[in-house]
Amino acid sequence: MQTPLSIALIGAGSMGQQHLEHLENLSQAKLCAISDPNPQVADFAKARGVAYFADHRQMLIQAKPQAAIIANPNNLHVQTAIECLEAGVPVLLEKPVGVGLDEVRKLVKASQDSGVAVLVGHHRRHNPLIAKARQLLEAGKLGQLTSVTALWQLRKPDSYFETPWRREPGAGMLLTNLIHDLDLLRHLCGEVQSVQAITSNQTRGLPNEDKVAVLLQFANGALGSLTGSDAVVAPWSWELCSAENPIYPHQADQPCYLLAGTEGALSLPQLKHWHYAEADGGWHQPLLSDVQPYTDAPALTRQLAHFIEVAQGNAEPLVSAADAGRTLALIEAIRQAAESGQACTPEQI
Ligand SMILES: NC(=O)c1ccc[n+]([C@@H]2O[C@H](COP(=O)([O-])OP(=O)(O)OC[C@H]3O[C@@H](n4cnc5c(N)ncnc54)[C@H](O)[C@@H]3O)[C@@H](O)[C@H]2O)c1
Repeated sequence: MQTPLSIALIGAGSMGQQHLEHLENLSQAKLCAISDPNPQVADFAKARGVAYFADHRQMLIQAKPQAAIIANPNNLHVQTAIECLEAGVPVLLEKPVGVGLDEVRKLVKASQDSGVAVLVGHHRRHNPLIAKARQLLEAGKLGQLTSVTALWQLRKPDSYFETPWRREPGAGMLLTNLIHDLDLLRHLCGEVQSVQAITSNQTRGLPNEDKVAVLLQFANGALGSLTGSDAVVAPWSWELCSAENPIYPHQADQPCYLLAGTEGALSLPQLKHWHYAEADGGWHQPLLSDVQPYTDAPALTRQLAHFIEVAQGNAEPLVSAADAGRTLALIEAIRQAAESGQACTPEQI
């Protein structure tokens, strides 16, 4: 049997700890060290029997991990990842890949120049139901994709905003939450050519947006909309509808993405496929539906299993730094469109 890959964790907050729970499901890798400037994390590392470091640079030198998971605050992602690459350590870097496109370009170059891999933590792409949805789209089950509707409507409790960084500019729902939905829309429906958007902070009155409405024009000609708010009592969001994370009570019968094409439609996360019996069926004929089968498995465990393959040089990252950079470029185009009132095109990465 192969020796397990030694993995270090950088940033042991709530997401870092979730990664560790999923790492325990995998025998191919083993936690070797944790770094986090919060001194309380020393006890957390001790309880897991691994070395603790306040500074990840010391950890890279002394613990010599073969791979690292980075789950520190967003504004440290790129710098930390580049330091790992310089030490020859492949990284699973939490989303967002960075906070600006210029720094993301530096990371893309550092990965290309060093040949050391970056996998960005857009974990929903690893969910088997998304893999199945992509297969159906690629197989042409919907015909020509025409109309895309995405919903992210839920209420975060007020206590969520007691953590200071969550109130600071830049930490709004576009970069924190809708980045996942926009990444999935790119993954399923293709690149976005142009966006128009309205954002508002009127409901909560905090510096960040609490509602958004976005119009999307995909390069393949499909048109889409994404509406979102973190201040409404509603069931329509990936978090509540998908059961991906058990901390959110499941709304099993409610969809959050509706994809429609010239031959059929798909509602997600139910994977319900709608179509007519005859190719030329129309609104007077019965509309048939079936639920497409797939085998469920935790997206975060699958992401880690993939990361181990990437770190060992056996697979290309499903979400590279450049790919995640294109999702960030889409967020920036949405912000620009909201500020200018004009249609905007995402920058190239
Ligand atoms: N994929 C997802 O669904 C998902 C969900 C939540 C958070 N995240 C991402 O994970 C990251 C962490 O979010 P969180 O909710 O765990 O935040 P958190 O505040 O709970 O944890 C961040 C941790 O990083 C530590 N830290 C600060 N500076 C550091 C440094 N220089 N080196 C190492 N550690 C440092 C903090 O002490 C803290 O323990 C963010 O980038 C966030 O966007 C992703």
